[in-house]
Amino acid sequence: MGDKIAIAIDGPAGAGKSTIAKLIAERKGYIYVDTGAMYRAMALYFIEQGIGARDQDRISAAAPDVDVTLTYENGEQIVWLNGRNVNGLIRTEEVSKMASSSSTNGAVRKKLVELQQALARKESVVMDGRDIGTCVLPDADVKVYLTADSHVRAVRRYEELRAKGQDCDLDTIEKDIIDRDYQDMHRDISPLRQAEDAVLLDSSAMTAEEVAQAVIELCDRVREE
Ligand code: DC
Repeated sequence: MGDKIAIAIDGPAGAGKSTIAKLIAERKGYIYVDTGAMYRAMALYFIEQGIGARDQDRISAAAPDVDVTLTYENGEQIVWLNGRNVNGLIRTEEVSKMASSSSTNGAVRKKLVELQQALARKESVVMDGRDIGTCVLPDADVKVYLTADSHVRAVRRYEELRAKGQDCDLDTIEKDIIDRDYQDMHRDISPLRQAEDAVLLDSSAMTAEEVAQAVIELCDRVREE
């Protein structure tokens, strides 16, 4: 990887990966790559095509038609789906569920993993997802497995939605998180798991700032070696 740095942050839904990755990218001047957003953009395409979450044959057949690219404007990642900015469309519960299902598909994963690896060859990156330390960037300089108690994750998500004025139910959110974790951890290809050389951080009782500091210390240690 030369003088480029790669930081891999994996973990279950709602553990705070993107918050932490953004803080680190900002402070270190690295590019933040939100790989979940890429799976979400693909999922949006399948939903728009009327493809069902379990229809693996149609998902495989449609995957080559999907072009997902990332650009950055003022440090913000923009996800383009076949030339359309879909940032505002990919954060719904429907897309979350479809992304978790369609990301079990080999054609979908192959396409996005290649794109993610190409990004890391060009830039210093903080990449978050489910398989970054285990599959996408096995030689990453720093690997973190960020987790938190499912109830804590659900409460954070609930508060985020409430702050946006959205009506929501805490129990439903927690159930959806648990279901999605199960699916992401038990799929055949690149399931979510902690890489052997990843540092485990449990953010249940930590602030975002504390977690970010802990990861930055890991990065600084690597640079000094
Ligand atoms: O991180 P997220 O919640 O935006 O991700 C949405 C879904 O995409 C997640 O449930 C599983 C899938 N995903 C994946 O399989 N591999 C990744 N590297 C990132 C996300």
